[in-house]
Amino acid sequence: MNATINLENKHFPVLLNELISIISPLYGGTFIDCTFGQGGYSEKILENEKNNIIAIDRDRDVLTSASKFRQRYKRRFKFYNTKFSQLNNINFKINNLKGIIFDLGYSLGQIKNSQKGLSFFDKGKLNMKMGINDFSANDVISSMDENNLAKTFKLFGDERYSKRIAREIVKKRQDKIIKTEDLVQIIDSVKKYQKTKIHNSTKVFQALRILVNKEISELINALINSFHLIPVGGIIAVVTFHSIEDKIVKFFFKHYSEQRNSSRYLPEAKVLEKCFQLINKKPILPSLSEIKQNPPSRSAKLRYGIKTNNNCDFNDFREKFKNLTDIEDLR
Ligand SMILES: C[S@@+](CC[C@H](N)C(=O)[O-])C[C@H]1O[C@@H](n2cnc3c(N)ncnc32)[C@H](O)[C@@H]1O
Repeated sequence: MNATINLENKHFPVLLNELISIISPLYGGTFIDCTFGQGGYSEKILENEKNNIIAIDRDRDVLTSASKFRQRYKRRFKFYNTKFSQLNNINFKINNLKGIIFDLGYSLGQIKNSQKGLSFFDKGKLNMKMGINDFSANDVISSMDENNLAKTFKLFGDERYSKRIAREIVKKRQDKIIKTEDLVQIIDSVKKYQKTKIHNSTKVFQALRILVNKEISELINALINSFHLIPVGGIIAVVTFHSIEDKIVKFFFKHYSEQRNSSRYLPEAKVLEKCFQLINKKPILPSLSEIKQNPPSRSAKLRYGIKTNNNCDFNDFREKFKNLTDIEDLR
């Protein structure tokens, strides 16, 4: 979950000052906000009148905020209701693109919206579709085979009891449609109400949400497409909220900012140029005062890179996370 909104639903865009201090040297151009949400990042960037924003979000519920932005900022603000993996397919003319920004995850407002069914406190039919999806959590739970269910829970949720939970789901679904509350009950029955810091259902629900929204493929394709879209000298910046996302973003920036050979197997293979310059090798984390004001921000990590050349191929990147994207392609 992302930490943009605190428990009273007050809006707190996470790591905002840190992000702004990174991108402000490039001010005077267009920034793509790939995760518009309530517009916290966009608003701050638009404070500078020389900046334009192209905003993207897959969730139609943000359209109200987006239309207010349109009224206020006129031609300086454009919004597209699409998935960020499609950012290179949007039919627009971008003048002077300077930065592409991601604030991954979902806001607390979205998590609390019972129609989306992201929370294990919800009741009723499983859903988890965040917008522009091919299938729902209900489709997964009612039709995916036992082996792939277990794989999903293990790889996307690091769920220790993945096999037993998958077995119980397959058994129970022969008698009835498994609703949100039934899934919680199945997980509780397998885990025997163990006392851990996190809720018994957290990992399975995270795994299902990642699968339904194809979050891994979305992120990998969006990073690659961002690289091809941004000119040399532009910035790609990403705020992550869980370890799978961060592993992907870390590899993307680290691997492609190091010297690499064009082939691992040929000693005479040519050395490839670096694709990014990294100013910070380590991620930027929220300050103690931000965590105090907005406790969920504690899991946020900000990584960024400055593009240094146009010739990069991302086969290693795709290969590295193929085991994860393969599961998303199962449905
Ligand atoms: C954490 S919120 C962003 C909050 C925003 N930075 C702000 O300050 O209000 C993440 C947003 O990204 C959107 N999102 C998540 N995955 C997406 C995807 N693959 N494509 C487009 N939007 C996505 C969610 O719908 C959500 O509104």
